[in-house]
Amino acid sequence: MKLGVCYYPEQWPEEQWAKDADEMVSLGLQLVRIGEFSWSRIESERNQFTWEWLDRAIQVLAARGLNIVLGSPTACPPRWLIDECPEILATDEYGNPRKFGSRRHYCFSSRRYREECERIVTVMAQRYGGHPAVVAWQTDNEYGCHETTLSYSKSAADAFRDWLAERYKSVEQLNESWGTVFWSQEYQSFGEIDPPVATVTEANPAHQLDYRRFASDEVVSFNQLQVKIIRHCAPNADVIHNFMGFSTDFDHHEVGRDLDVSTWDSYPLGFLEQGWFSEKEKQAYLRQGHPDFAAFHHDLYRGCSNGRMWVMEQQPGPVNWAPYNPAPLPGMVRTWTWEAFAHGAEVVSYFRWRQAPFGQEQMHSGLNLPNGDRDTAFDEVLQVAQELEELTITGSTIAPVALVWSYQAQWITQIQPQGENFSSLIWAYTCYSVLREIGLDVDIVSPQASLEGYQLVVCPCLPTVDESFPSTLASLDVPVLLGMRTGSKTENYQIPRELPPGPLSSLIPLKVSRVESLRPGASEAVVYEGKHYQVEQWLEWVDSDLLPLASTEDGKGVWFHHNKVHYLATWPEPGFLREVMLRLCKQAGLAVGVLPEGARSRRLGDLQFVFNYNNHAIRLPDNGGRVFRLGQPEIPAGGIAAYKIND
Ligand code: GAL
Repeated sequence: MKLGVCYYPEQWPEEQWAKDADEMVSLGLQLVRIGEFSWSRIESERNQFTWEWLDRAIQVLAARGLNIVLGSPTACPPRWLIDECPEILATDEYGNPRKFGSRRHYCFSSRRYREECERIVTVMAQRYGGHPAVVAWQTDNEYGCHETTLSYSKSAADAFRDWLAERYKSVEQLNESWGTVFWSQEYQSFGEIDPPVATVTEANPAHQLDYRRFASDEVVSFNQLQVKIIRHCAPNADVIHNFMGFSTDFDHHEVGRDLDVSTWDSYPLGFLEQGWFSEKEKQAYLRQGHPDFAAFHHDLYRGCSNGRMWVMEQQPGPVNWAPYNPAPLPGMVRTWTWEAFAHGAEVVSYFRWRQAPFGQEQMHSGLNLPNGDRDTAFDEVLQVAQELEELTITGSTIAPVALVWSYQAQWITQIQPQGENFSSLIWAYTCYSVLREIGLDVDIVSPQASLEGYQLVVCPCLPTVDESFPSTLASLDVPVLLGMRTGSKTENYQIPRELPPGPLSSLIPLKVSRVESLRPGASEAVVYEGKHYQVEQWLEWVDSDLLPLASTEDGKGVWFHHNKVHYLATWPEPGFLREVMLRLCKQAGLAVGVLPEGARSRRLGDLQFVFNYNNHAIRLPDNGGRVFRLGQPEIPAGGIAAYKIND
């Protein structure tokens, strides 16, 4: 468990570097990420390379024992490159090029840009690949940030046509798969097919889904290009990329497979403000973030690269990009850091060492103020560094619950939400939250991951499933929850011939004959074990001979089970969802805990961590004799405690 920081030597006078590096060391940092936006300083015009400053920066850091994560600078193609080959710019949905002047203005599909990336990454990797202090390489920076996964450039259109030809082999096959007979959309050749944009009303959903798959594959192959070069020149270094919060435009499982570590950038307050959370939650968690935000992403990204995960950028204070940008509660930066470690992070690195006095992010805080004085997070990091030295954690743990999540599920439900408020991401997050509230540790995994060893499997919403998925689930012999819309589409975005849940009806004999979506505020009462609850947003009409566990007042079953497989045909209010999860846990033989509202726990080895996301103190239920390694039973607002588990 190491601490790190993001640093931009090119933004500060060179005389300051040594002092900065000394202070990083005395703070207890071990890792420094540099370089990811530095192209114009490395190559100010074509083939005019200025490496000396970067050599010296690396030397200053390395001389003090700091390890370096070197970023490839491809998120910011410089002005001269854009002027030389403007076709590398991404194109927006209205056909306009995205302009130079911020960042991420390139198109993933530009073959020309790929050549330029290959060139710059090669020279950089050749120069520093063998440097002993450069222990990791970050490819680019935050793929997809600022809505940049989808581009509608000529290069993208051409590459899309090739991608379709490869996938379908014949245009007749494509017509059949997409159902283009609908509205006379039949094509005679792949060359006739455009990206699904600027159509009069919504384009064919199968066409849209393939564009999303194609765009995701473009991110994967763009990343692979850099990974290949870096691995060749720096065989001993880790190759990483920094993913974002609530980012679903490309398949992170696929990109993560090519990396050694999936890292991510954790900004809990920014994402609370700009996220879908209720006004009540935004008020209650203003300075802490939503209690499941960071954990959800730790658990998701841990599953993208074989269990290896880092936080590459940790929010240290107010950010500059959310509608409102409050400061964290005192102690919160320490809590976020420990929470990341408890969820398996190998590294937590803060963004950034010092607040910039210029540029787009001058209102974004860092560990230090623009004048070099310490900002408030500095002392919290110091505290964590000391605690890390003192704490020993032994043993390993595995989460008992798998929550199965797919990026494709999100694309399918975004293309046809069928109800404005429907989001499979929010629904998956809601299921995750309820599991976490009852004290369970969760792995978020892809449908291709092994599900062996879990005691409970929750699939909140998987509209398409691979052919083998039903038999994989059948072989597990543990409780499985299938949520609404699971099995509702074929690979080609069609309703399955046997009706939803398609092939999964082999696990539970039922079929969905109609779906309704409900506007906000509308709900239906359901009865479960004699108690009344509400269900919202989504209601499926299910035909089955099974006796439902819960039904609407007019007798429509909303929750069915057959042996260990459950089907939930609606979006329950939180109290009802909790009942569903509790029943599943009971069937799984899983012990659930009672945590105070707003608190979350996680086990790491022989330690049980508890995080208080409330803006008031809480007291853990008295359980005499607990040995606390961090904190005490009384946990302050935004604080943590960790006690030893003897078993
Ligand atoms: C991230 C990005 C950083 C910086 C930061 C500000 O999205 O990777 O470069 O912009 O946000 O919060």
